[in-house]
Amino acid sequence: MSDLKKIKDEFLKKFNEKLNLTEINKLKSDLFGKNGLISSQFKKIGLISENDRKKFASDLNIIKDELQGLIELKIKEIENAEINEKLENEKIDVTLPERNFVRGKIHPVSQTIDEISSIFSEIGFSIEEGPDVENEYNNFTALNTPYNHPARDMHDTFYLDEKKEKLLRTHTSPVQIRTMLKDKPPFKIIAPGRTYRSDSDQTHAPMFHQVEGLYIDKEINMGHLKGCLDYFIKEFFEVKKIKMRFRPSHFPFTEPSAEVDIGYEIRDGKIIIGEGEKWLEILGCGMVHPNVLKNVKVDPNEYQGYAFGIGIDRLAMLKYGINDLRAFFECDYRWLNHFGFDPLDVPTNYRGLSR
Ligand code: DAH
Repeated sequence: MSDLKKIKDEFLKKFNEKLNLTEINKLKSDLFGKNGLISSQFKKIGLISENDRKKFASDLNIIKDELQGLIELKIKEIENAEINEKLENEKIDVTLPERNFVRGKIHPVSQTIDEISSIFSEIGFSIEEGPDVENEYNNFTALNTPYNHPARDMHDTFYLDEKKEKLLRTHTSPVQIRTMLKDKPPFKIIAPGRTYRSDSDQTHAPMFHQVEGLYIDKEINMGHLKGCLDYFIKEFFEVKKIKMRFRPSHFPFTEPSAEVDIGYEIRDGKIIIGEGEKWLEILGCGMVHPNVLKNVKVDPNEYQGYAFGIGIDRLAMLKYGINDLRAFFECDYRWLNHFGFDPLDVPTNYRGLSR
C-alpha cells in the first residue's frame, strides 16, 4: 500500500470516531501542521524520480484537498451543534413574570417637551416635526439669512459636506419653512426637537433642544405674541406671576425681534424662578419677516404673524432646579433616577403638569 493510501486510511479511521473540536483540531495539525504527515509528503516531492513525480504530486494534492475538505466540514458541523445547544439551553421564557422589576424614568427633557406640547395644544397649536439633518436653504436662506450674513458663522454650524449644503440644523426655525411650504395659511404650530451648534460649557451643549412656534393669520400682531408667551411661561412654571422682560434684539427672520428673559435667583444651591435679580435668556421671538413669507409663497400683504424659538433645556433646568446642562446628556442612571419622571405620569393641563 502506498504511503498516501496509508495516511488516508489511518485518517478516516480516526475521523469516523466521535470527535470534539479539540480532537479534530489535533487531527488537522497532525496532517497539515509544520511537520504533519501531509506536509512531510510535500517535502518529499523533490526527491522522487522525474517519471513518478507528476503522478505523486497530483495524488498528493487530491488527498490533501479531500482530507482538508472533510475536516473543515466537520469543524463547521461541530460549531453549529455547539451554537444550537447553547441556544437551546439559554432560551428565555418571555411569558414568565419578572423577578427584578426596575421601572425606567422619563428624562426631564422629554418630560418638558410633553409639558410644552400639552400647554400649546390647549390653545390651538398643532405639533410639527422636521429632520435633524437639514439643507442650507431651509436653515438659512429661506429664513432671510443670505450667504454672507454673519449669522452663519455666529451659529457655529456643523456642516456635513464640503459645499456646505447639508448641515445639522442650528435651530428649529427651518420647520417654519417646511410647514409653510407644504400647507396653506393660516398656520398655528409648534415644533420641538434637537438642534446643534459647536458650543460647550455649563450652559451650552453641542446638541440641545428648542421648540419653535409659528402663528400666521390675517391679523396676528406683537400683542398676541406677548400674550401667548406670558400665558405659556405662567402655565409652564405653574405660577400666577412671573418676572419676564422683552429686550429688543435682531434675527434675520423677524422684524421687529425681541429676546425674552425670565428672572431667577439661586438660594441654597437651588434655582428659584420668578424672583431675584438675575436674568436668564430663554427665547427669541418677533414678527415673521415679509421676506420669509415671500420665500414660502405666502403673500405678506395678506398674512402676517409671529414666531418664537424657546430653549427647552434651559426651561427644564429652571423648572427642576438642575444647574449644569451637561448632566442632561451624560446618561448617568443615578442622575436620571433622581431627576427623571414616572412613565405613567403623563403631563396634562387639567391634572397639573408636574405633580
Ligand atoms: N432661531 C433662533 C435661535 O436659534 C430663535 C428664534 C428667534 C426663533 C426668533 C424664532 C424667532 O422663531 O422668531 O437663536
